[in-house]
Amino acid sequence: MDTGNFTDNPTPEGDVKTRALVGFMGRIGYRAAGLGERDLDRGYEYLDSLRKLGGFSFVSANTVYQRTGKPVFDPYTVVTLSPKEFGALKGKPVKVGITSFIRFNPTFLKPSPSGDNMILSNALDEAKHLIPELRAKCDLLVVLAEMPKDDAHLIARTVKGIDLIIAGYAGMISGAEEKEGTTRIVYIGNQGKYLAEIRAMRGSQSWELSQTMHYLGATYPEEAKAKDAVSSVLNQINETNKKIALERASKSQSKGGTLAAPAAAAAGGARTYLGSEACKDCHSKEYEIWKMSKHAHAFDILVQKKADFNPECVGCHVVGYHARGGFEDAENTPDLIHVQCESCHGPAADHPQNPTAPYGKAGGAAACAPCHKLENSPTFEFTNYWAKIQH
Ligand code: HEC
Ligand code: HEC
Ligand code: HEC
Ligand code: HEC
Repeated sequence: MDTGNFTDNPTPEGDVKTRALVGFMGRIGYRAAGLGERDLDRGYEYLDSLRKLGGFSFVSANTVYQRTGKPVFDPYTVVTLSPKEFGALKGKPVKVGITSFIRFNPTFLKPSPSGDNMILSNALDEAKHLIPELRAKCDLLVVLAEMPKDDAHLIARTVKGIDLIIAGYAGMISGAEEKEGTTRIVYIGNQGKYLAEIRAMRGSQSWELSQTMHYLGATYPEEAKAKDAVSSVLNQINETNKKIALERASKSQSKGGTLAAPAAAAAGGARTYLGSEACKDCHSKEYEIWKMSKHAHAFDILVQKKADFNPECVGCHVVGYHARGGFEDAENTPDLIHVQCESCHGPAADHPQNPTAPYGKAGGAAACAPCHKLENSPTFEFTNYWAKIQH
């Protein structure tokens, strides 16, 4: 099961990721997912296409049509676990009832294909009539929830019959055992960083539930097949963005412009970054040292890894990403690839004409910090690293 909010950003790249993720979920045996506000933001048709792709249920008890108050998606599903499929089940099958609630958001409103709007109704009100109905159809009743702790506890306290609430909200994690009456509540973090393993033992009266939170860090080795699948998705993202970049480049060329950074900047009057070649004549000593450094080739490794159009990668391997007149993509600003002088010293457009005006204090270690972070440069230590590029 998943608590929802599995939908990525509404961009071509986000779509590739979302579709890959939902596909994986289906393949590794997900039976149901709740929906979160991020998912609903993309509208009904998008979600419905994802549901078909994943081949498992999307449930939401309080996403309803504005006019009728009727649920837009299945309000719940009942999954039957058979002893044949699950050896641990002795004797008769177990029916798991799964529903999902989103925190009440009075401002939420999205069109649906029927011409009516989708809104979020009050989760507690829906729970009051839905839980008894579902309880009668299942052995174990699970609520997936996208809501703060107070709301989850209020539902468990007010509506009897919920065995387990699995919740995702703002990355919260239940470290210690969390209960409300006989209902166990587990907050499972976000971004797929945790797997909540919940064991249910059938007691004579009720279920005994125990939980282990698995932090999916480096101690869990990558599975070869999954790793291949992930790199094929990353390649696909790279290709998608490359195509977009190529289209932009050819459009701007057909308008008579070339977007090569300095030229484009000059044309638009927004000349900011010049590139290292522009420093060579006056700072030949610094230039030669830089040219020998790995910084001067920092983009090549991304090309090799097919990550040269991945926005999650390029920022630290180029000049002035996201800055005015800085790197956009390798097609439109090809002379701003690699880590160049201005990656550390800042945009130099005004400097050559007026070299005595203050420019370019890099500030030592502070100049390295935005890129040499722990995740990307675990062995970084300023004195040693600076010694390799000192100029
Ligand atoms: C026309 C020659 C010229 C060009 C081109 C030029 N500079 Fe300079 N730069 C100078 C001079 C001269 C100084 C020394 C100014 C001073 O000492 O007051 C200087 C100083 C600097 C300083 C040191 C500032 C300080 O406070 O010590 C940096 C950093 C710098 N330049 C970076 C660059 C970069 C990066 C480029 C290319 C984008 C570049 N320069 C292009 C002439 C140039
Ligand atoms: C926050 C900045 C940053 C981001 C984002 C970033 N990198 Fe890097 N990358 C670095 C730095 C800094 C180094 C140099 C590390 C060192 O030598 O200490 C590096 C080195 C590398 C290397 C060569 C060293 C190695 O580990 O083999 C590769 C390959 C690489 N990055 C790929 C990527 C890819 C792929 C992405 C996107 C998923 C990415 N980088 C995103 C900063 C970044
Ligand atoms: C990786 C970051 C980085 C890159 C790339 C880089 N520098 Fe520097 N540079 C520094 C730092 C740090 C200093 C030390 C002074 C400071 O903190 O400002 C410095 C100092 C300087 C100085 C002043 C030297 C002095 O005697 O005070 C000049 C001039 C300079 N760099 C020019 C360049 C030029 C030209 C390039 C490209 C060919 C370049 N730098 C590339 C980080 C960088
Ligand atoms: C714009 C991002 C960025 C900034 C700022 C930056 N670096 Fe880097 N640095 C990189 C990347 C990316 C690489 C990896 C290049 C490669 O291996 O292809 C790297 C590699 C290096 C290496 C080579 C490591 C090796 O294995 O030999 C040294 C040394 C280094 N950086 C020092 C510094 C220092 C010192 C500073 C600050 C003064 C700094 N860098 C600032 C992005 C940056």
